Amino acid sequence: MKQHKKEELVKELYEKYPYPSRNIQDKEKLINYSHWILQIFKEKETFWKNKEILELGCGTGELANSLALNGGKILAIDFSKNSIKKAKILSKKMKTKNSTFLQKNILEFNSKKRFDVIIALGSLHHTINAKKGFEIASKHCKKNGLIIIGLYNKYSRFRHRIKRLILLLTCRNDFEKRIKVGKKLFKSNESPFWCADKYGQVHESYHSINEVLQWFKENEIEFISSKPKFKHPIFDELKWLIKKENAFFVMIGRKK
Ligand SMILES: C[S@@+](CC[C@H](N)C(=O)[O-])C[C@H]1O[C@@H](n2cnc3c(N)ncnc32)[C@H](O)[C@@H]1O
Repeated sequence: MKQHKKEELVKELYEKYPYPSRNIQDKEKLINYSHWILQIFKEKETFWKNKEILELGCGTGELANSLALNGGKILAIDFSKNSIKKAKILSKKMKTKNSTFLQKNILEFNSKKRFDVIIALGSLHHTINAKKGFEIASKHCKKNGLIIIGLYNKYSRFRHRIKRLILLLTCRNDFEKRIKVGKKLFKSNESPFWCADKYGQVHESYHSINEVLQWFKENEIEFISSKPKFKHPIFDELKWLIKKENAFFVMIGRKK
């Protein structure tokens, strides 16, 4: 499939099934939604206060709105119009200040502004060029600013890659069919948005710790921390595969 066709299908999927669509009703719950990130690099809840934050691929905006409620000044982008719409509705409902949501393609994002923190969780691997997405993230980061990225792991997501291969062979790129067959074959009771993201997705890329460390090096980012922690890349990633853990991993770095 051609790259632009792939990109179109990814967008179409998230227009129909905006992700994660968590339906958080309670302000306290939304405030706490982002705290798990701080635990990775051992910072206090006040860390976000007055930080200029760029989120790439914000989906329905739960994280961005949480960061705004914690005092961050957020610019959040996503190319799905319906996701941005939901993010704005949540912002209005929770009366979050300092959050701006824009419909934009990550790979075309270009601003003169530089940010204290750049976050891209679960989004770069759905672009047609995750490495380019990372370079764009890095370019928009201030000196000493943080980059927080979450990606599918090349090794520990292997089980899911087999499921995806079955879906590709049986349903090709028909995402509605893939969701229906995926739910049936793999017995899933999750939300329609979750099932669409897991089974309907026609494009995702996979990345290893060493690959991301190489991206960090090339873009003058110093590695700070990760979730999960690792000692020996590849060996640990294979261990996660066997233990059915960490198909999604987060790496944090600081711009030099
Ligand atoms: C799996 S969702 C993750 C959403 C959110 N970051 C989260 O962790 O819940 C991936 C998001 O990336 C967005 N996305 C994928 N490719 C994109 C691109 N090239 N430009 C902008 N957004 C993109 C999708 O629209 C979708 O909302």
